[in-house]
Amino acid sequence: KPKHFTFKVVLLGESAVGKSSIVTRFARDQFDQHKESTIGASFMTKEVPIDENNIANLHIWDTAGQERYKSLAPMYYRNAAAAVVVYDITQTESFAKAKSWVQELQRQAEPSIVIVLAGNKTDLASRRTVSKEEGSAYAENAGLLFFETSAQSGENIEDLFVKLALKIPRS
Ligand code: GTP
Ligand code: MG
Repeated sequence: KPKHFTFKVVLLGESAVGKSSIVTRFARDQFDQHKESTIGASFMTKEVPIDENNIANLHIWDTAGQERYKSLAPMYYRNAAAAVVVYDITQTESFAKAKSWVQELQRQAEPSIVIVLAGNKTDLASRRTVSKEEGSAYAENAGLLFFETSAQSGENIEDLFVKLALKIPRS
């Protein structure tokens, strides 16, 4: 009988980068072209198999990226086992914002937190302004897992959460 582990996961990043869309694609395999901006935060759970003996039960907090909710973020990343920091590959400024979230997590969150950097919206390749090399070089330097994703097509969404679950230490 597999052993269950519950892990708290938080999504952070500028408004409209696709945090809620990534979670909805992962948890329900759905995508909404006109997703509404999150108010406060929203919560979802999803199981991910780790190996034949272990299952991760992810408790996912999808935070609101709008500036007025910024002060709530520490409540969500406190005690989190993992964080997914998202930017939009077509918005250079959202990449800068992602870096500032990574710095905040590295200073204020649990030292053991697993941080994943996600460059989202790869389906909009023709409008790309942040190269894959820029994203991966930053992630490697900062010690993060890195994926480019599309919540619209589903590219790398499942893989991101599976690799995240594998990287979280199981006491
Ligand atoms: P806040 O809740 O305000 O922080 O925003 P968010 O980061 O949760 O963004 P959300 O998921 O609401 O997506 C914002 C917009 O981008 C929506 O119109 C989505 O349909 C769209 N979107 C999200 N992911 C993708 C993607 O991978 N590709 C494309 N083309 N659009 C996307
Ligand atoms: Mg949202």
